[in-house]
Amino acid sequence: MKIAMIGSGYVGLVSGACFADFGHQVICVDKEKSKIDKLDNNIMPIYEPGLAGLVQRNVEAGRLSFSTNLGESVNDCDAVFIAVGTPSRRGDGHADLSYVYAAAEEIADAVTKPTVIVTKSTVPVGTGDEVELILSRKLPADQFAVVSNPEFLREGAAIDDFK
Ligand SMILES: NC(=O)c1ccc[n+]([C@@H]2O[C@H](COP(=O)([O-])OP(=O)(O)OC[C@H]3O[C@@H](n4cnc5c(N)ncnc54)[C@H](O)[C@@H]3O)[C@@H](O)[C@H]2O)c1
Repeated sequence: MKIAMIGSGYVGLVSGACFADFGHQVICVDKEKSKIDKLDNNIMPIYEPGLAGLVQRNVEAGRLSFSTNLGESVNDCDAVFIAVGTPSRRGDGHADLSYVYAAAEEIADAVTKPTVIVTKSTVPVGTGDEVELILSRKLPADQFAVVSNPEFLREGAAIDDFK
């Protein structure tokens, strides 16, 4: 499958590298250019045992790449994972879902073929309905499906946990 990970932080990068290691074609996207520049030079923005080798192996095999351009990255994918941050909001402590919804808007503008949109970020119940609503404003119903695949990896054991 051709997969895009939106957000190349802990979850997006580890998940993307592991999916590539399973044989999928993966592009990891991030809006932080410095992060993508580092990854293009095989410098990991986080420390995770085994990650640099996993990334290097899959980049060299042509299965893993990095980009700051969400639109170009998602338009011919089978599945697009939303793995952006959901920090606790000041005041009420609820998850700030603005990054998730902003990513959904950008994906809706870019999808050109039937695509599965997967929420991997940690989100409250009902977020999938909201993501579906955002996509449905711009895409016909037969062009997308929204599913939930929350991540439970632990930092420091992320690759084993994911796999
Ligand atoms: N880190 C963990 O151990 C862990 C474990 C399980 C679940 N989670 C959940 O997974 C989600 C991601 O966590 P993380 O630790 O990877 O976050 P992170 O902050 O390390 O990475 C998120 C990345 O998303 C990027 N981003 C935000 N909006 C974007 C956009 N529109 N387009 C492209 N890139 C964008 C940011 O620049 C950042 O690099 C959160 O919901 C978190 O709660 C984290």
